[in-house]
Amino acid sequence: MEPAAYGLRESATFDRATIHAIQRAAETGVYDIRGWGAKRKLPHFDDLLLLGASMSRYPLEGYRERCDTDVVLGTRHAKHPLRLATPVTIAGMSFGALSAQAKEALGRGASEVGTSTTTGDGGMTPEERGHSKHLVYQYLPSRYGMNPDDLRKADAIEVVLGQGAKPGGGGMLLGQKITERVAGMRTLPVGIDQRSACRHPDWTGPDDLAIKILELREITDWEKPIYVKVGATRTYYDVKLAVHAGADVVVVDGMQGGTAATQDVFIEHVGIPTLAALPQAVRALQELGVHREVQLIVSGGIRGGADMAKALALGADAVAIGTAALIALGDNHPRYDAEYRQLGSAAGYFDDYQDGRDPAGISTQDEELAARLDPVEAGRRLANYLRVMTMEAQTLARACGKAHLLHLEPEDLVALTIESAAMARVPLAGTNWIPGEGL
Ligand SMILES: Cc1cc2nc3c(=O)[nH]c(=O)nc-3n(C[C@H](O)[C@H](O)[C@H](O)COP(=O)(O)O)c2cc1C
Repeated sequence: MEPAAYGLRESATFDRATIHAIQRAAETGVYDIRGWGAKRKLPHFDDLLLLGASMSRYPLEGYRERCDTDVVLGTRHAKHPLRLATPVTIAGMSFGALSAQAKEALGRGASEVGTSTTTGDGGMTPEERGHSKHLVYQYLPSRYGMNPDDLRKADAIEVVLGQGAKPGGGGMLLGQKITERVAGMRTLPVGIDQRSACRHPDWTGPDDLAIKILELREITDWEKPIYVKVGATRTYYDVKLAVHAGADVVVVDGMQGGTAATQDVFIEHVGIPTLAALPQAVRALQELGVHREVQLIVSGGIRGGADMAKALALGADAVAIGTAALIALGDNHPRYDAEYRQLGSAAGYFDDYQDGRDPAGISTQDEELAARLDPVEAGRRLANYLRVMTMEAQTLARACGKAHLLHLEPEDLVALTIESAAMARVPLAGTNWIPGEGL
């Protein structure tokens, strides 16, 4: 008989996972480190709905009427802005966290559909550069793998100030993933746990960012767009400061955003949801008169065309995906369930990123495991997924009467809950009430 059947009640405060966490801490004396993003339920794009057209709006016909998807990023200062065929990009994920095969597959998949991929903490691999049509190079606080030659090889540069999974903190890479190749690129010892810096060594405030951006422009002859990536916290102010510092593109990563490895307490308790950050970022850009001139990329929990359409309607120019791209490559696939269970996880739980023993060959540096991932096949899967995502967004945009994905607007949205209405600043469905507006 189930315990509930003879009257035992579960505690909402001390649920099973909480009890297990306390037991685990008591036994080991170390905090929990894991990958993936926040697992708690947060207000998200599911709490918004698009208003399709009917009498007062005119829908577009799917087979005959176009709905364009292209986007140009970095139009403010760069001589060569990035021209992408679809407004979904692959977020920065490090070589080290991911295998060289996975990085190559990301490049192949993104290139097949005409979008960009991004390096990460740990530098640029030749496989990744070779297979990425548009490659964004991350300039991170750790400076692992950073060198001016690779800056010049990139198509855009992303200065990373923070990530949604851990704003104010640095990531981790456990010793089991620090092979000779990873260590060589990072100039670190082999096999020793490593924590990335939480802030740039030559940075004490936004004025230093302005100097840094100028330096990067000089090194790259003003050719490449410069992005600034922030974890979502005080987003309104951060976006304004990034624009003042000279960013061409601002990337806002909400707290649902994935990570390769960091403290669980960080992932679940720091930052604000993507849905709350996005309208703040748009308001900051609008007040500065640069909305659409400085492009906005939003990430953190983007899963498909509906999320993308809603993010664009709220004012983003593009979205970025990390976790969903890894799932598309084949990560945590049920066929490996037995092997994930041997790691103390299970397929679909994604609690193994930090471990370095990913049976799918994606978040590992083990040569045998990594060889299981065929970059061509995995790239094809990613390209399929990106195509589906784009078609889904187009279907929704056409239903709203839009001939371009970027024509979606807040007026196309309503909210299902009071909290999402307040965060997204769109009316609660069936009313014209936006909580907090006019106060
Ligand atoms: C395996 C993995 C590795 C990551 N490595 C980096 C990194 O090196 N630099 C960085 O800025 N963000 C890194 N991120 C965060 C992503 O760039 C992005 O902000 C996040 O994944 C977006 O959220 P999503 O995973 O829900 O799509 C990583 C994420 C994952 C899942």
